[in-house]
Amino acid sequence: MRRAKISVIGAGNVGATCAHWAAAKELGDVVLLDIPDKEGVAKGKALDLSCCGPMERFDANIHGTADYADTAGSDVVIVTAGLPRKPGMSRDDLIGTNVKIVRSVTEQVAKHSPDSIMILVSNPLDAMVYTAWKSSGFPTSQIVGQAGCLDVARYRAFLAMKLGCSVEDISALLLGGHGDDMVPLPRYTSVHGIPVSQLLSEAEITECVNRAKVGGGEIVKLMGTSAYYAPASGSVQMAESIIKDKKRILPCAAFCDSEYGVGGYFVGVPCILGSAGVEKVIEIDLDETERALMDESISHVKDLVGTVTEMFPDLA
Ligand code: APR
Repeated sequence: MRRAKISVIGAGNVGATCAHWAAAKELGDVVLLDIPDKEGVAKGKALDLSCCGPMERFDANIHGTADYADTAGSDVVIVTAGLPRKPGMSRDDLIGTNVKIVRSVTEQVAKHSPDSIMILVSNPLDAMVYTAWKSSGFPTSQIVGQAGCLDVARYRAFLAMKLGCSVEDISALLLGGHGDDMVPLPRYTSVHGIPVSQLLSEAEITECVNRAKVGGGEIVKLMGTSAYYAPASGSVQMAESIIKDKKRILPCAAFCDSEYGVGGYFVGVPCILGSAGVEKVIEIDLDETERALMDESISHVKDLVGTVTEMFPDLA
């Protein structure tokens, strides 16, 4: 059987950690690409990771490069290229620089791996997914953004800490944009099937939701740069579902037209991820409060896309 091929663009903190998780899970062969100035970093990290194989018991060819020809024929491409946040910055502050980077990257990906599924990680995520769609010319099913997996994992981790129970038993769902823009859904959160509202007070649930919302910022303040273990883990969870055609239901930034009344933008929604990429967006019932938060989140996505098209009219 042919091994899957995963290319990770950007060999920085998130990219290298994606390569690490992907290799450790034996998802396939991994290509780690960075700009020519950082080719040594990409090659060095790939070589270092390759040497973990005998100890961690994975078989994967891991190749560092600055040449897109090496990424040709990838099944999944994870795009992490771009600037991370520094303390005091919002994700939106990165927009100008990261649109240029993601645009050049995704044009190359489309050229060399036209059948790949692209997972966008660079921030501000909602603007980057749009940029990738426009500059790649890919069908919407082949473009998906990682934000929800991370946000929901943070929410689940904080709930488990509060309850003193295993994270594995927390099942939760979120909608909307990344961080501040996420739409918490305590009604759809359960602890091994028990509604979370039976185990925690409203105030305790809100505390976990709020911590998840600013979870990225909390880490930026502590480390001076943005998080990478959990963002990479979220991206590789998505890659795994695609490569193994697991058809997992994961919260991702996916293209919605009539769904949730979005009208043609990528927003955070639960979707089925399989070998064809985003195979289905799942619509759930929202109450009035959830609907209002979702509308706010959608409107922020529209504003971000508006900023992109104002700065780069040819992406309209
Ligand atoms: N092509 C390929 N790689 C690029 C390009 C490009 N055009 N431009 C920049 N890069 C690379 C950088 O050289 C660097 O190695 O992207 C890498 C980014 O790595 P870090 O600076 O360590 O940033 P990281 O923490 O990995 O975050 C990357 O993911 O979660 C988001 O907000 C985060 O937008 C940020 C992105």
